[in-house]
Amino acid sequence: MKRDRSYFKLSIPKRKMEFEFDSIDRPFFFDGNGILSTYFAAMSVVFPPGEKEFVRSVGFFASKIEDPELREKVKEFSAQEAQHRLQHKRANESLDEMGFCATEFEQDFEEEIQREVSRLSDEERLAGTVCAEHITAVLGHAILSNPELISTMDKPVRDLLYWHAVEELEHKAVAFDVYESVVTDMKLLRRALAVQTFLFCKTVAKYQLRMMWQMKYRPSVKESLQAWQFFMGRKNGLIGKLRKPFMEFYRKDFHPWDVDDRALIEEWKSMQERDAA
Ligand SMILES: [Fe+2]
Ligand SMILES: [Fe+2]
Repeated sequence: MKRDRSYFKLSIPKRKMEFEFDSIDRPFFFDGNGILSTYFAAMSVVFPPGEKEFVRSVGFFASKIEDPELREKVKEFSAQEAQHRLQHKRANESLDEMGFCATEFEQDFEEEIQREVSRLSDEERLAGTVCAEHITAVLGHAILSNPELISTMDKPVRDLLYWHAVEELEHKAVAFDVYESVVTDMKLLRRALAVQTFLFCKTVAKYQLRMMWQMKYRPSVKESLQAWQFFMGRKNGLIGKLRKPFMEFYRKDFHPWDVDDRALIEEWKSMQERDAA
């Protein structure tokens, strides 16, 4: 299928970031709410092993990509994901100090992922990555277009998430373009989305519950209501914002850049410049 490739002009830069996780002086960095904090801590746990698999699964097909521009994009994508891995590993070390057992769970998930992917073909692994990239792009778009969603989070974690969201948007089409040019089985891709979404939600929930258990944390009614509003709130709930863009993947001619995220990326860049000035 012939596509408008203007998004190819968008650079996918490798940025060296520093986040002052040490400045966080309370365990529940998301507005003092234990449910929301353990949820985002559990998400940070799954990123390093997950992103390692994304890079590896795309790399299997690197030599089969004929388009030199796309080959370049794969390198840039891999460099960005490597930075995400590094920064979330650092975040997980800081989360350990705050009592979350994040690095232990990260190791646990690393082993689980190795066991799971060893049973899959290279094509299935790439399909899984394309779907995971769709999930992260949809999440990134929701966070950047509704920055108030996480505005009460402590700054270092909030900055980490905004930066990660921006880069997920910058490289959101790379795995998809590789899949479309080399594997082409779009039915497999659509089946994989349900599996990948289920696994992502199950894994984050599992580590969140294990964190809560280890911390002997019992949420208060106020925290539960606040978390309910965050996820399910009728007007501003996260889930409501994800549903429609998530389902777009099932459209026959779907492409990640059908949604033009360049303005959101530019907005973040100017915010960075303002902060630095
Ligand atoms: Fe990432
Ligand atoms: Fe990504």
